[in-house]
Amino acid sequence: PLTPAPATIGVEAGLFSAQAEVAGLSAKEKEEQWLALQGRCEKCTRCPLHRSRTRAVFGEGDQQARLVFVGEGPGAEEDRTGRPFVGRAGQLLDRIIAAMGMRRQEVYICNVVKCRPPGNRTPSEEEIHTCWPYLEEQLALLSPKVIVALGGPAAKTLLKTNLGIMSLRGHWHRYQGVPVMPTYHPAFVLRQYTPAIRGEVWSDMQLVVKFLKEA
Ligand code: URA
Repeated sequence: PLTPAPATIGVEAGLFSAQAEVAGLSAKEKEEQWLALQGRCEKCTRCPLHRSRTRAVFGEGDQQARLVFVGEGPGAEEDRTGRPFVGRAGQLLDRIIAAMGMRRQEVYICNVVKCRPPGNRTPSEEEIHTCWPYLEEQLALLSPKVIVALGGPAAKTLLKTNLGIMSLRGHWHRYQGVPVMPTYHPAFVLRQYTPAIRGEVWSDMQLVVKFLKEA
């Protein structure tokens, strides 16, 4: 099972939370913290993935976004360019965002691990655990209205569960009070390009659109 990162243990004990740390900051202080976080992430050597990466992929989009997508980890194209979701899965994500009536620039897109796992394997629990403080602080600073977890690893990490994506998707969950909608990863959708799977992703995204309209 996923072991909670130390900061999360602190949250449970009421001692520390990235959200609480960020709560009182001015816009300027948040921006400084964001740039410092991105700088640390891009130079990170905390886990062995740094040895095989070309570039760490921190994330991109609107820091004021109401909607954040969290994927699994960079693939080849992302590793080369330093940008999230720019390969084939990214092109499908772009189409999903467009179908939701939004533009890629108005959401924020990032991953659970910031460096490419060799051969695009699933990141290990240890890699996810080591990388977690980056995503935790990133989400605290972004403070979105909704998070979409793309695929099992993102959903399991955010929701601290071992349930599979099939049972998690289509229902609202929460991460630190923020509503989370898990759905299938675009790369999975490309492999299982059936009307049923595409329909499920679309119905999940319609729940998100409806929530944002009412929020
Ligand atoms: N798949 C992911 O999970 N993230 C990316 O950035 C690209 C592909």
